[in-house]
Amino acid sequence: MALSELSPTTLKTPFIPSQLSLNSKHSYTNHRFHVLSQPPRLVQNAKISCSVTPNQVQTLQKDTTTKSECFGVFCVTYELKEEEKTKSWKKLVTVAVSGAAGMISNHLLFKLASGEVFGPDQPIALKLLGSERSFQALEGVAMELEDSLYPLLRQVSIGIDPYEVFQDAEWALLIGAKPRGPGMERADLLDINGQIFAEQGRALNTVASRNVKVMVVGNPCNTNALICLKNAPNIPAKNFHALTRLDENRAKCQIALKAGVFYDKVSNVTIWGNHSTTQVPDFLNAEISGIPVKEVITDTKWLEKDFTERVQKRGGVLIKKWGRSSAASTAVSIVDAIRSLVTPTPKGDWFSSGVYTNGNPYGIAEDIVFSMPCRSEGNGDYELAADVIFDDFLRERIKKTEAEVLAEKRCVGHLTGEGNAYCDLPGDTMLPGEQ
Ligand code: LMR
Repeated sequence: MALSELSPTTLKTPFIPSQLSLNSKHSYTNHRFHVLSQPPRLVQNAKISCSVTPNQVQTLQKDTTTKSECFGVFCVTYELKEEEKTKSWKKLVTVAVSGAAGMISNHLLFKLASGEVFGPDQPIALKLLGSERSFQALEGVAMELEDSLYPLLRQVSIGIDPYEVFQDAEWALLIGAKPRGPGMERADLLDINGQIFAEQGRALNTVASRNVKVMVVGNPCNTNALICLKNAPNIPAKNFHALTRLDENRAKCQIALKAGVFYDKVSNVTIWGNHSTTQVPDFLNAEISGIPVKEVITDTKWLEKDFTERVQKRGGVLIKKWGRSSAASTAVSIVDAIRSLVTPTPKGDWFSSGVYTNGNPYGIAEDIVFSMPCRSEGNGDYELAADVIFDDFLRERIKKTEAEVLAEKRCVGHLTGEGNAYCDLPGDTMLPGEQ
């Protein structure tokens, strides 16, 4: 086993020890680990010790194309062996993740690296954005990724500057956000997080792939997604999503439980509107084994009240149990949301996503991010489902969540380029976790 040692003179910035897979004879092919901008370090004479998997590499080359991002041993690229090249792997996909040292990411990143999300033939580069405060934890995450020896994981970069980390990103999973602190007004929360997402939108606009797909998870995710897309005018607004898939999954689970069926029998579940306690889990269009839910579950009171509230407030109930927000199920729902965009939607079904309203067929206000039923051909894009029915109950609920999204939008006018903000949020506006 070879050990590479980096002295401070070879480093642009001092660096603390990290275990990195590297060996001059044997190593991962084209597997790089970059450290982008990072907080100042006190540790000098850092040593990078390198463990390897055998049998993959023939030659070692200096990578001259990424000098601006990497230093020392992190700039080393390994040539693929001839037999490796015959593998029918797709072109590398670059995925940026913010809040990468947090709990949700700690579940998500390993799913991404394993191939569970983009498929077993899709090599992946992970670019991880953390904060100055979380930087050590971010290194810990990267070390665990290394130690997992995922064959598909070809590059890992960590940093605290979105303009560096989002470079060439084809997917940006924006998870990091500030939680609402004690005594914090919702308007303050919208503003604090809005600033983060405005900055990240600008960074994406400047450095990401022109067709980057953006999944906003950090709450309040609908409004954060709107702020982000408004600050990224060179990226199609259609590419931005606010995660409501967790709510859809929760709704499917509750319907399955009530009907006494396995949850794979439940389809066509839409979450309309905001990821908040005004969201509308739609049981009118939902089906169980192709039969309308209302014909299988005839307890209308349960559907209108118990079911609806249970889904709306599930996040809060979980927080009371856990003492923190849902993390694993959120990560799973991010996987589901991405997979819904990169695999064709099963015939007749659809999935929920918070997307930009721009000519929607449902009469929902334009120029907001609103969860609606979507279908994809598996190319990363989607279309809104047209075969949806409404009744008065559904319409009335949609109006309420729409009013909330519009009120949130007015609160962040200063961040979306609309001028001054005017915050008159309905009193009961809450994240699922806030009650
Ligand atoms: C959830 O739905 O579990 C979270 O969005 C809750 C929260 O407020 O963080």
